[in-house]
Amino acid sequence: MSELADLGVTGLAVMGANLARNAARKGLRVAVHNRSNEKTERLLAEFGHEGNFVGSSSMQEFVSSLSRPRVVIIMVKAGQPTDAVINELVPLLEKGDIIVDGGNALFSDTRRRERELAERGILFVGMGISGGEEGALEGPSMMPGGARSAWDRIAPMVTRMAVSVDGTPCCAYMGPDGAGHYVKMVHNGIEYADMQLIAEAYDLMRTVYGMSAAEIGEVFASWNTGDLDSYLIEITAIVLAKTDAATGKALVDLIRDEAEQKGTGRWTAQSALDLGVPITAITEAVYARALSGRPAQRAAAAKELGEIKPAGKKAGAAEIGMIRDALYASKIVAYAQGFEQLEVASRTYDWNLDLGTIATIWRGGCIIRAAFLDRIKEGYAQHASAPSLLLQPYFRDGVLKAEQAWRDVVVLAVQNGVAVPAFASSLAYYDGLRRSRGPANLLQGLRDYFGAHTYRRFDKDGSFHTRWSQNGSEVEV
Ligand code: 6PG
Repeated sequence: MSELADLGVTGLAVMGANLARNAARKGLRVAVHNRSNEKTERLLAEFGHEGNFVGSSSMQEFVSSLSRPRVVIIMVKAGQPTDAVINELVPLLEKGDIIVDGGNALFSDTRRRERELAERGILFVGMGISGGEEGALEGPSMMPGGARSAWDRIAPMVTRMAVSVDGTPCCAYMGPDGAGHYVKMVHNGIEYADMQLIAEAYDLMRTVYGMSAAEIGEVFASWNTGDLDSYLIEITAIVLAKTDAATGKALVDLIRDEAEQKGTGRWTAQSALDLGVPITAITEAVYARALSGRPAQRAAAAKELGEIKPAGKKAGAAEIGMIRDALYASKIVAYAQGFEQLEVASRTYDWNLDLGTIATIWRGGCIIRAAFLDRIKEGYAQHASAPSLLLQPYFRDGVLKAEQAWRDVVVLAVQNGVAVPAFASSLAYYDGLRRSRGPANLLQGLRDYFGAHTYRRFDKDGSFHTRWSQNGSEVEV
């Protein structure tokens, strides 16, 4: 019998195929399988020379081509397709074998799968993988979660597939059951916020200052240094600079303004609501995509309510610099909110997430990779007890410095009718956060008035109810 494979990948769409190639290029012997054999054959024909592959046309053959304990990475669409593959695999596996789900699974599904498979003696690792097609091939950021013993067994192989930054692999054990997929979900939530902030900065330059896509692209290219240095800013410059060969126009101007989504941003917002964590920037980014997806309604409203026209103001270095500052400050808020969500989820689900480690493995390979994450990593190393990322000295000083420009840009947007939900909601969060006394005292009074929900007082302990509409007396309850 020929030599057995070190690990297997089933599901050979682009991400799966690239991950299998990545593993093979790193010297691993990789079994490959796909529901329709055509993809397996294509992978072997085109890339078989890159490494040591074992192709199988059936699941049975695939499983029997793996060395024990078997390690199978599933790279199929999240949801029902993942369950279908697991159900097909399980009867063929033995106790101690390991299934790794590398898709964008909902963390509660991962928790369920881990529990169910553990009952059958099969170990399950839910692993977030970020970096798109290129990352999967060249080295993604990987966020594994599940049984520690399972991770320890596969870590030497899987870690080799991840990219490294300053000699540190962008791959680390996140925590039990759904921790890895949860961290990936929040990564994607932050990705949504980051992209929405970029889109709002673009819209201001385009709509208020009448700049062309190419001109805005140059601005983004110039921003890709220092604090904003990141993959998303870099590719924004490239996308804006692209000319459509057929028409000679900026390609971005020909792309429909309707954002699609696969669900991870929405899940992040839903989970944050469940946990009671304010993640305004991420949630507004999800809403902005939903609004963009209603072109007929928007066209009708533009007609009925009047569409804004480019203001035709001229932007100088000062105006552009202000938008940059507003983007930077809002970005700090979005990350502070995302990291707070991770912290609360960690406590709620008993995951013991290490926020500094998460920042470390997001520095390379993933979509939100940025110089900024070095600062977050350092921040958690030095100021772990700060009540918010926003209050770590580096970021506190950054927002304080940007604050005036941030306000001015939000005012500019409001005055010109340009929607900036992520800029504005980040600023509102910031303003709400730095109030030691907000207006919720009135909410409590109203709740007590109509529902006897009680309130607490500053000047004495206990819970109280006032008979507001009767004799006005207060009772301790
Ligand atoms: C990544 C990306 C990847 C995918 C997004 C797209 O980290 O590599 O986040 O997972 O491209 O899920 O999400 P939407 O289709 O919802 O924008």
